[in-house]
Amino acid sequence: MRRIHKNFSGVVALENVDFSVREGEIHVLVGENGAGKSTLMKVLSGVYPVDTYTGEIRIDDAVMGFHSIKDSEKAGVAVIYQELTLIKYMNVCENIFLGNEILKNGLIDWDTTFLRAKEVLKEVGLPVNPAARVINLGIGTQQLIEIAKAISKKARILVLDEPTSALTEKETEHLLKILQTFRARGMTCIFISHKLKEVFQIADRITVLRDGHTVGTFDKGEITEDKLISLMVGRQLTQRFPVSKRRAEDIAQNEVLLEVKNWTVYDQEVSDRIALRDITFSLRKGEILGISGLMGAGRTELMLSILGVWGRKVSGELRLSGVPVSTRSPGDVIGAGIDYLSEDRKGNGLVLIQNVKDNMALPSLYSRLKNGFIDQDEELSAVEQMIRSLRIKTPSVEQLVQNLSGGNQQKVALGKWLLTSPKVIILDEPTRGIDVGAKYEIYTIMHSLADAGIGIVMISSELPEILGMSDRVLIMHEGKITGELLRAEATQEKIMTYAIGGI
Ligand SMILES: Nc1ncnc2c1ncn2[C@@H]1O[C@H](COP(=O)(O)OP(=O)(O)OP(=O)(O)O)[C@@H](O)[C@H]1O
Ligand SMILES: [Mg+2]
Repeated sequence: MRRIHKNFSGVVALENVDFSVREGEIHVLVGENGAGKSTLMKVLSGVYPVDTYTGEIRIDDAVMGFHSIKDSEKAGVAVIYQELTLIKYMNVCENIFLGNEILKNGLIDWDTTFLRAKEVLKEVGLPVNPAARVINLGIGTQQLIEIAKAISKKARILVLDEPTSALTEKETEHLLKILQTFRARGMTCIFISHKLKEVFQIADRITVLRDGHTVGTFDKGEITEDKLISLMVGRQLTQRFPVSKRRAEDIAQNEVLLEVKNWTVYDQEVSDRIALRDITFSLRKGEILGISGLMGAGRTELMLSILGVWGRKVSGELRLSGVPVSTRSPGDVIGAGIDYLSEDRKGNGLVLIQNVKDNMALPSLYSRLKNGFIDQDEELSAVEQMIRSLRIKTPSVEQLVQNLSGGNQQKVALGKWLLTSPKVIILDEPTRGIDVGAKYEIYTIMHSLADAGIGIVMISSELPEILGMSDRVLIMHEGKITGELLRAEATQEKIMTYAIGGI
């Protein structure tokens, strides 16, 4: 790709970008949120047709002009987008061959479709039934089905846009291994990620984008992690986590904000399955409580049941500053002062077709009511200040949220809750898909919230984040709390032992 320029009604997303990939390599593309990574790949794949950008795309030295995704697929380019695109209510093989149906006498040949689906699923090491409905499958499995779909199209160049952001470590390992076997067969792969560990694990070469410009392309061997970070964020980042000023002894003296006692919840879907068993914990003012555990341990379900949106036959006590809280509706819980930032920003966190201002102002609407009217000036200045303090990259408060880059959408989702001045804020995977520089900013904000007396519960699947940020860690396994560690005593090993249920 040469001298690529792309703008969106005045917003320059790519400027003079050069990007070249060798056959059979795994080429990792990195850069801050909003740097232009996804846009560059959408140019490559014809999502943005040839007449909507300037510059040149060549494959095998032939100039390409794609008018649609179909065109680029014919040329061997397959893209797995940041947002998975499988149709949830269709089954696996219908999804794999969607748009490329195998026909016989004008009808879909289901027998062949089924067999071909089995073959491509085998190539990605997925023992799933092609007749299974996608809605019943986890994110990791869906990600592999997307890859199977790409293989079924005989892709030569496979593009994966943040494929691991929602995967467990084990699923990530599996995915990286599959990509390595593809490389061994000569397939070319472009991989976008914010996780530097896997970047260095899998890359042959790395290209850095910043603010729509190419910073450079490097062999993996010629660049260190620290150097890469400074190229991405444009400054040195000596630590990954800001230093906390709070001391364990002081926090232990603070008032208890949130109290959960003997909390038992039955599964939302499976009757008679106890999903959460006898959970008791508390959170003090000014404390950051990390919740660790493997995928499926029940961390998100615990929080959703506290909010009153998940589970059946809930029993136990929930108190905020000593006062019982009703969980009949999420409105009651939020009204009492408990906020929740969802791990699923697209599904539950944001109204994508609304603009940044309306999304951010939504939950704090009532607090700005004066004589029955919203104080628009105050609303605007509150939103603008939040945009500045979170460094949200948006041309204006009027921009639709769906046009922001993934990481900036996450910041909007966080910002809208911070505007409600909660007593307790529950953050579910708060830095998923966020670049290293912006992560540091979010951590700094979390510290200042805690210093101001807000209680923070942070669910995270990243152990370094749990260790770097928590004053205290709770570890869950199969719907129970199996361990509790203070910051000073917490280590990766101890957490993992509790996470797999051991003592
Ligand atoms: N459809 C659109 N309309 C307007 N602006 C857009 C659109 N798509 C992207 N942009 C803007 O272009 C820039 C690049 O966005 P892009 O999604 O490519 O970033 P990214 O590098 O993929 O970031 P992330 O790591 O957060 O996914 C951002 O400033 C974004 O707001
Ligand atoms: Mg992106």
